[in-house]
Amino acid sequence: MKRVVCPGSFDPITYGHLDIIDRAAKLFDEVTIAVLVNQTKQSLFTVEERMAMISEVTAQYSNVKIDSWSGLLVDYCKNQGIDSIVKGLRAVTDFDYELQMSQINYQLQGIETLFMSTSPAHSFLSSSLIKEIASHGGDVSGYVPAQILERLGKRLADQRSAKK
Ligand code: PNS
Repeated sequence: MKRVVCPGSFDPITYGHLDIIDRAAKLFDEVTIAVLVNQTKQSLFTVEERMAMISEVTAQYSNVKIDSWSGLLVDYCKNQGIDSIVKGLRAVTDFDYELQMSQINYQLQGIETLFMSTSPAHSFLSSSLIKEIASHGGDVSGYVPAQILERLGKRLADQRSAKK
């Protein structure tokens, strides 16, 4: 059985992530979406919220699983017996960092990283940019599914009223 991990912060999941997940689900028998906990990064949604949102928008895939992990990605892969990672490459700007990650992950535990080129329609998307646009009242309805848009709107509204 061909299994792969699709890792990320997913804070929140976007159409860019979903494009990669959709294509990976067609290539592999099982795709595990791993929500990585980054202690140094301030997130808008908790890991549990992110997992619940991912679960809603990937419900149609019978071969997609969702999990979370707070250590090294390669340790997660080893623990699960999965030997490859799939990642989307948006642009040249992603390349240096992703190459470095893939090389170190291979050296650490022999885990392979497979890069999928992001569809041009999504190549400019990032969760951070979407949060920034939405926080200034910009329209991000074309970048995230409706369920995510609703949660994002609510969370940002809650944050605004908490600051008042
Ligand atoms: O969605 P993101 O924030 O771009 O995803 C980055 C992520 C979470 C995949 C990456 O930071 C990661 O793999 N973090 C886990 C810790 C780790 O294994 N770091 C790299 C080895 S030195």
